[in-house]
Amino acid sequence: MRVLVLGSGGREHALARALHRDPAVTALHCAPGNPGTAEVAVNHQIDPHDPTAVVELAGRLSADLVVVGPEAVLVAGVGDALREAGIACFGPDRAAARIEGSKAFAKEVMKAAGVPTAAAFVCESAPETQAALDEYGPPYVVKDDGLAAGKGVVVTDDRDAALAHAVACERVVIEEYLDGPEVSLFALCDGVNAVPLMPAQDFKRAYDGDAGPNTGGMGAYTPLPWAPPDLVEEVMRTVVQPTVDELRRRDLPYVGVLYAGLALTAKGVRVIEFNARFGDPETQVVLDRLATPLAGLLHACAIGGLDPAFRPVWHEGAAVTVVIAAEGYPENPVKGDEITGLDEAAQVPGAYVLQAGTRLEGDRLLTNGGRVLNVVGTGPDQATARATAYEAAAKIKIRGAHHRSDIAR
Ligand code: AMP
Ligand code: GLY
Repeated sequence: MRVLVLGSGGREHALARALHRDPAVTALHCAPGNPGTAEVAVNHQIDPHDPTAVVELAGRLSADLVVVGPEAVLVAGVGDALREAGIACFGPDRAAARIEGSKAFAKEVMKAAGVPTAAAFVCESAPETQAALDEYGPPYVVKDDGLAAGKGVVVTDDRDAALAHAVACERVVIEEYLDGPEVSLFALCDGVNAVPLMPAQDFKRAYDGDAGPNTGGMGAYTPLPWAPPDLVEEVMRTVVQPTVDELRRRDLPYVGVLYAGLALTAKGVRVIEFNARFGDPETQVVLDRLATPLAGLLHACAIGGLDPAFRPVWHEGAAVTVVIAAEGYPENPVKGDEITGLDEAAQVPGAYVLQAGTRLEGDRLLTNGGRVLNVVGTGPDQATARATAYEAAAKIKIRGAHHRSDIAR
């Protein structure tokens, strides 16, 4: 199978790594990829958001499957264009990707499908917003209705700050606060059926000790030894399948990964959000544990015929990833700092490094974005995997880098 992966982050490096390990994959390409994906695939410097350029590249490569990483690529209509051209694509059409892009649309689908989620108001004016904030009380949850890559959400006890965020957005969703541990569950969907991957947990605050501003995610681990054993099947039954069914009923067949961000509250499982893509950095740990070859699974989603009873096989043990971010992340990440120590990190037994915001200048590796590297540690249990990840991360030097994820529990 000839596969093209779109995107350039740590998630895409993890996808490329897992596809590279799959013996069914005979050719692997990334666009644009990064210096890490170049070690396992051929990178192509095209704009992945340009549907014409992607269709042209996929055609030129005779790709049997295109795997879309970022939501912005889906929103640009790349999935639609590929399918129109008769090329199998793992990733929903633009209209179905609104499950992530519009919080209001997601709420409406959940309501129609009977999926448990936080009660919410959609607000477009300050008086509406104030009434909604006072209805639920603190902590206030205010979500930008636009696509914000998981970064348009403010959770605060400060009513003025909540109101200020709402005023800065055109349309917001104000919700009741969900109290309880968060879980990310990825379901692979073919438009009709869905198959779950292993749940993971990520940590979104920028600094150690779960402090600092919200980010796209600073670290993750899987499995979740504390999660109820029937969690996955319950979520498939009450959340994923009803959502896939509802989208299909609306003629928006959902092909790709449906990422359910869940809160396990005292009242039961609630959906915090849906994403139309793999989570970053959860994918890095989930794919590390996946023993079932990835390409066949993704291809079955893209062409249809997924067996809903199928459950992937998982490696024993645990994986933890630690994100190394650029100085100034998330507000103003510094680009162009030199990265050293990758070889030393990779020599730590059970550890390896995935690249995200990096670029090569000659043979020097430089920072080129917010989240720079993901150090993955593996081991028989979470504590060992975590220690391994931090041991390897300590070998890496970035001039000025000081942000490390907090993955203590
Ligand atoms: P979202 O982009 O909707 O995932 O929100 C980002 C983060 O904000 C989530 O991962 C949660 O930590 C937090 N969050 C969002 N909605 C709620 C809610 N209703 N109650 C509590 N925390 C929330
Ligand atoms: N790690 C959270 C996300 O990908 O949105």
